[in-house]
Amino acid sequence: MILGIETSCDETGVALYDSTHGLLGHALHTQAALHAEYGGVVPELASRDHIRRVLPLTREVLQQAKASLQEIDAVAYTAGPGLAGALLVGAGVAEGLAWSLDVPAIGIHHLEGHLLAPLLENPAPAFPFVALLVSGGHTQLMRVSAIGQYELLGETLDDAAGEAFDKTAQLLELGYPGGPQIARLAEQGQAGRVKLPRPMLHSHDLDFSFSGLKTAVMLQVKNRQLEAQARADVAAEFEAAIVDVLVAKSVEAVKRSDLERLVVAGGVGANISLRKKLSAAAARAGFSVFYPAPEFCTDNGAMIAFAAAMRLQHAPAKQAPRGSGNFSVRPRWDLSSLEAVSR
Ligand code: KG4
Ligand code: ZN
Repeated sequence: MILGIETSCDETGVALYDSTHGLLGHALHTQAALHAEYGGVVPELASRDHIRRVLPLTREVLQQAKASLQEIDAVAYTAGPGLAGALLVGAGVAEGLAWSLDVPAIGIHHLEGHLLAPLLENPAPAFPFVALLVSGGHTQLMRVSAIGQYELLGETLDDAAGEAFDKTAQLLELGYPGGPQIARLAEQGQAGRVKLPRPMLHSHDLDFSFSGLKTAVMLQVKNRQLEAQARADVAAEFEAAIVDVLVAKSVEAVKRSDLERLVVAGGVGANISLRKKLSAAAARAGFSVFYPAPEFCTDNGAMIAFAAAMRLQHAPAKQAPRGSGNFSVRPRWDLSSLEAVSR
């Protein structure tokens, strides 16, 4: 039974995962309202709020699961990448808790958590698969051969897809986080009425670039009072532009890898238009797509507990170190540098 703690950015997530019975409980507090007036995450405010939330959320999860602290076999936490101060809150609590319970403390890579989250679903995708990881900080296509074997196929050269949603939402004077807000406004608009570029659609590689798209939106809205319908049309065209590129490159990545499965992970993976177009394209190309439940696309504790469970299951010989006062976090941490676990 593994307790998972996620505090890398602006969500405090806690969950309890049992390797036999699955997810026993999970709770989340989002700081969206706290950061909304600044249009983005304020790191110091994020750290302080994690401190306030993490223990009450842990109690809530234990209650949901009707479990006691003493039943926990390991404590997992996000060790990076993310905001240093925010990471330290989760790491400190997890290491201290594990130390007091005399159980292993396991630092998990945040993106490995996102990547493996689709495996919480039933049916779970089998290895190997191509993963499209689209979050606020990352846009990557990866070949996933096993736990810990992640080969980068392509990535964004500038803004991440989620970041493009957030920045464009700011230009349209929508709130933070921008993804869900743009998606909502886009429903009232029509793509194609204004024209935005599909950056790098024909670049013959698996890389992305989204910063130009944001600039193109800026030119549409600059010095102009757009009426409601025009704003909705910009939102719809923006969403369509991002989705078109993500879909085309994902299909190409699956073809080039000669694989049959695509897994979508990260916050932008909650986008309904992306899911619709990707599923349609996959049906045409003859491969299957796997998505996490929308609540496990964005940051959460379940994916951290689950990633730790997978690592412990596949590498039982390597005893994870007990919790201690001697730990560090990695605000910058390359996913492909992770160690593979033997199967
Ligand atoms: O994975 P995540 O929760 O955090 C990071 O690890 O970055 O992703 C957050 C990002 C934000 O940029 C947010 O705007 C975007 O995911 N997002 C969405 C949607 N829900 C969240 N983007 C598009 N459509 C959505 N429905
Ligand atoms: Zn994330």
